[in-house]
Amino acid sequence: MFISFEGIDGCGKSTQARLLVRHLEARGTPVLFNREPGGSDGAEAVRALLVEGDPGRWSPVSELLLYMAARRDNLERRIAPALARGDWVVSDRWTDSTRVYQATRGGDRAVVDALQDLVIAREPDLTFVIDMDPERALTRGLARGGEEDRFEQLGLDFQRTIRAGYAALARDYPGRIRIVDGDAAPEAVADRVRALLP
Ligand code: TMP
Repeated sequence: MFISFEGIDGCGKSTQARLLVRHLEARGTPVLFNREPGGSDGAEAVRALLVEGDPGRWSPVSELLLYMAARRDNLERRIAPALARGDWVVSDRWTDSTRVYQATRGGDRAVVDALQDLVIAREPDLTFVIDMDPERALTRGLARGGEEDRFEQLGLDFQRTIRAGYAALARDYPGRIRIVDGDAAPEAVADRVRALLP
């Protein structure tokens, strides 16, 4: 099984990805945890190009090419071998992030989909979108520190657009994407996630 977690910044998806990994390990399922962009050495090097420096340093198209380059390298070196061994993979974001974020930042969704088909050609078997009101995510982020920079940089309206983007994507992929209400204690959200596992 290849499972991804998606959602707006501060929705708690990284916590949920880690809780699912812990649950799978506890029941004896071999599992690889992955965080996008990143993973392989090459993908981590590309990650630095994406997350450091001026937010406007890349054009929308070059930005999405970098995300796809990082993903391809990580897929070849870590994800595909793990799946071939029969391990589970739990990924904190995958191409749905590129579909939603890069389209919102001025990239072309058709280009993302074409590149996905050409160079990645692997969708998760199951995707959890951890849904949360952006204002609530912002308050939570401020309470625990660490998320406020990104919200300040991108803005509440941007996060609202991203949330709507995920809702639309869930309609495009009804068999794969499950929307999970993230507005509860992490363990309660994790129970909802586990209830949706095959
Ligand atoms: P994070 O919240 O999972 O740390 O993700 C880092 C940021 O990168 C987040 O704001 C979403 C963004 N992102 C994209 O814009 N496109 C992508 O393909 C991925 C994987 C992340």
